[in-house]
Amino acid sequence: MESIIVQTSPSYEAVVGGGLLTEAGTRTAALLKGRRVLIASDDHVAPLYLEKVSESYRHAGFQVSCFVFSAGEDSKTLSTVEKLLDSADRAEMTRSDVFAALGGGVTGDLTGLAAALYQRGTDFVQLPTTLLSMVDASVGGKTAVNLRNGKNLCGAFHQPRLVLCDTDTLDTLPGPVYAEGMAEVIKHGALSGGVLLDRILAGEDPKNLIADNIRFKADIVRQDEYEKGLRQLLNFGHTFGHALEKLNHYAIYHGEGVAIGMLIASKAAESRKLCPPGIFQELKKLLTVRGLPVTTGFTAAQIAQAAMNDKKRRGDSITLVLPEARGRCRLLQVPANRLAEIIQCCDGEVTGL
Ligand code: GLY
Repeated sequence: MESIIVQTSPSYEAVVGGGLLTEAGTRTAALLKGRRVLIASDDHVAPLYLEKVSESYRHAGFQVSCFVFSAGEDSKTLSTVEKLLDSADRAEMTRSDVFAALGGGVTGDLTGLAAALYQRGTDFVQLPTTLLSMVDASVGGKTAVNLRNGKNLCGAFHQPRLVLCDTDTLDTLPGPVYAEGMAEVIKHGALSGGVLLDRILAGEDPKNLIADNIRFKADIVRQDEYEKGLRQLLNFGHTFGHALEKLNHYAIYHGEGVAIGMLIASKAAESRKLCPPGIFQELKKLLTVRGLPVTTGFTAAQIAQAAMNDKKRRGDSITLVLPEARGRCRLLQVPANRLAEIIQCCDGEVTGL
């Protein structure tokens, strides 16, 4: 069992290990006064773990309500959040009660947003069951839903009070869902100095990398909780990744978009000599070995156009995260109307294929 303290406002513990879902009730009860819990989960995860988690909360003295929604990015809407809030209201939850997000990134994001809104702010705990949400989405307090025009355009910073990463849940994860989590692990490798990249290259079991991924992210979030600067580095691959998700009508996984997005950013940086040669090829190899896509049929121009709505856009400029060395990235603000030209070099190698 490993424990990481995420130093935000307020600080909280992220715990990584086997069997943690059965401890959700006692660990939450030890932290919070409320004794009503609303567990939110999707219809893929609920059949696997909802009864176990409900029992854990009942056993710890909680009155349990459940909210189950259709799995998938299509559910990440204000309409689902509204239904979740109505459910909390019907359960007569008060501000001292707690929401529990049981599942992947979509579940965590919309449950966190509902918790941020309910009675102007209610506690929530994250019970991530995917690699992606363990290493990234469940930590750091970003909550959001999508709007018609793009991904995560409506949200709030709202930190969970506890994160329990039960690594046993990874044993039932479908291959592509496991792979998309590796995209975020590889992203952290590209940002954190190279040691993590070496461990991924050496084929280390991803379960052994979860705690170090959380430590790395927690250190950045501690320094820049509200993404004024440093934390933007964690968006490596996301501007183009979100654009690809949108162009594909969310029929690709988030991690798949991020994988191709990191390659677009790396190719653009290499062709402008902003980083040494070899970064792009190493990243491509790592992503390929982990079963992630490394090309897209959409052209650079289409991707640039779709990226214009990204949250990283500020007026007429957009902040890109580009590699500058192995295991290190930098932020570069560029005029939004030059984006297509900057990534044009990707056509034939990553894009337009
Ligand atoms: N997923 C990037 C962040 O939490 O900042």
